[in-house]
Amino acid sequence: MIMSRFVNITRQKNIPLAAPLFLFFIFFLVAFSSFGQTPEAEKNFAQCKACHTIGGGRLVGPDLKGVTSRYPQAWLIKFIQNSQAMVKSGNKDAVKIFNEYGKIPMPSHNYTDAQVKDILLYIKNGGKLPAGSEVKKAAVKISASSAQKITPAERYLQEKREGSRNLAIFAIISGVLLVLSLLDLIFTRYLKAKWIHYVIILSALWIIGEWSYDFATGLGRQQNYQPDQPIWFSHKVHAGQNQIDCEYCHFTAETSMHAGIPPASVCMNCHTQVKKGKRTGKKEIAKVYAAIKANKPIQWIKVDNLPDFVYFNHKQHVKVGKLDCTECHGDVAQMDQIAQVKDLSMGWCLDCHRTHKVQFTNNKFYGSYKKLHEKLKAGKIDLVTVKMIGGEDCQKCHY
Ligand code: HEC
Ligand code: HEC
Ligand code: HEC
Ligand code: HEC
Ligand code: HEC
Ligand code: HEC
Repeated sequence: MIMSRFVNITRQKNIPLAAPLFLFFIFFLVAFSSFGQTPEAEKNFAQCKACHTIGGGRLVGPDLKGVTSRYPQAWLIKFIQNSQAMVKSGNKDAVKIFNEYGKIPMPSHNYTDAQVKDILLYIKNGGKLPAGSEVKKAAVKISASSAQKITPAERYLQEKREGSRNLAIFAIISGVLLVLSLLDLIFTRYLKAKWIHYVIILSALWIIGEWSYDFATGLGRQQNYQPDQPIWFSHKVHAGQNQIDCEYCHFTAETSMHAGIPPASVCMNCHTQVKKGKRTGKKEIAKVYAAIKANKPIQWIKVDNLPDFVYFNHKQHVKVGKLDCTECHGDVAQMDQIAQVKDLSMGWCLDCHRTHKVQFTNNKFYGSYKKLHEKLKAGKIDLVTVKMIGGEDCQKCHY
């Protein structure tokens, strides 16, 4: 209907009116198809895609192709809502599949019976929507073909990047439309119905807002962050020129989750003697004395920050993984002022886990990985990466 109206308008050769209308039309088509129409089953199944494919083979959990004929529907509903409850109650099939999949608990899902039935229908249909438009089919095709070889973690990152890119494109289109409709509202006034302008302006602002948020959370990683510290403390002077061992000050790096920042009393081990620096004279060292006298900790500003929902452990990397501090923090011994060198993103963690060879033999921490040791001995594999010992499992890094 919109189309025929549009054609009518062009027939009347009212081109100036047709041009903004055409843009509005595209805007709504695009916005509608991407935001409004993701059907519920497909959206809900997205929760499962990190661990399951439909016909694409085993991931973290079983391939769900044909699952609707393997179990009664009531069983499936209960299992999907809370599989662990079934395992704990001793349900034979649930226990069997749980053991078969290395006792990885499938998370429970807060879906109603109707929503699960909807998902099951979607699975039964091979991951397709019953009668879909072109847009919907295209979306399903992408996820089915990319489900084959890549791991859930990689796929998560890929989808995230794709989502960000799409959002950026939307934001640009929205920006153009925003300007156009403002111009029309104030100067050209082709469109008499002002509400159209308002709808466009508000939607555009919303999309741009979403994008800014996405962008800002990306920036939140603050690579190169280099705050001024309360005392001009130089790693170059201490770890570089004076060759003080990192772990003299960061003495918990090998034994605990945190490397830790030394208390002022550690500074005093030397600075009761060393009262003057070459670069700052007495001024900066005096601040250490002041802190000791006031019995107040020095308010160092933390440079490397992970979000609270990420678990990172220094001992695991420094002691077990035998990594050098420089791999993650750069050449600290040459820095007068510490900066965050890596972006500390999930992609960064995973890149290393995928490629880094762990020192697997003669490392008592890996004694329990019997199967991998056997494979290594038999020559079936020639190295063990962090990924192979579970370095890509979501729950290892996320609480
Ligand atoms: C974090 C990974 C994960 C997510 C997310 C997940 N599952 Fe699972 N799923 C598993 C694992 C692992 C199993 C194997 C059984 C077990 O370990 O409890 C499983 C088993 C199943 C089974 C039994 C299949 C069989 O062949 O026996 C069904 C059905 C199922 N999941 C459906 C779903 C649905 C639907 C969703 C999304 C709403 C979902 N799963 C989300 C990991 C997951
Ligand atoms: C004499 C004590 C001392 C020595 C030796 C030392 N550090 Fe530090 N380190 C500190 C203090 C104090 C801070 C906090 C102030 C700052 O960020 O500059 C700090 C901060 C850091 C930070 C930033 C932490 C953050 O995210 O806020 C890193 C990374 C770091 N040190 C790594 C190292 C490495 C690697 C070495 C060895 C090459 C080393 N340090 C040697 C005292 C020391
Ligand atoms: C595999 C990467 C990696 C290695 C290796 C590593 N760090 Fe870190 N370091 C991090 C990350 C990531 C953070 C931020 C942690 C957070 O915010 O929870 C951090 C934080 C720190 C901090 C701030 C205080 C704290 O404990 O959170 C210091 C100090 C530090 N590291 C020193 C060191 C020293 C010294 C070494 C070597 C003995 C080292 N790091 C090895 C990744 C690493
Ligand atoms: C193991 C000994 C040792 C420890 C521990 C130590 N320092 Fe130093 N510090 C030195 C030496 C040596 C110098 C260099 C003096 C010079 O410039 O000749 C120095 C210099 C300094 C300077 C002046 C730098 C300049 O060039 O002007 C400051 C400020 C300073 N230290 C702060 C600290 C703080 C803060 C701590 C505790 C986190 C600390 N130091 C721990 C040995 C130490
Ligand atoms: C430079 C390489 C490197 C980087 C970067 C790195 N890791 Fe690791 N990671 C390792 C190595 C090597 C091990 C193996 C040590 C072990 O087995 O515990 C490991 C192990 C782990 C484990 C334990 C895995 C298991 O199966 O027990 C967790 C959790 C982990 N890393 C989290 C992180 C997080 C979170 C980040 C990013 C903030 C990160 N790592 C960045 C090298 C890295
Ligand atoms: C080796 C550690 C590691 C593993 C394994 C891992 N993550 Fe992350 N994840 C991180 C770190 C670090 C961040 C925060 C940094 C960032 O914003 O990218 C993060 C951020 C996230 C976020 C927050 C949104 C975002 O990107 O800012 C989500 C959601 C997430 N991860 C989901 C997952 C899922 C799902 C899996 C398993 C398929 C997984 N993660 C596996 C380290 C890991």
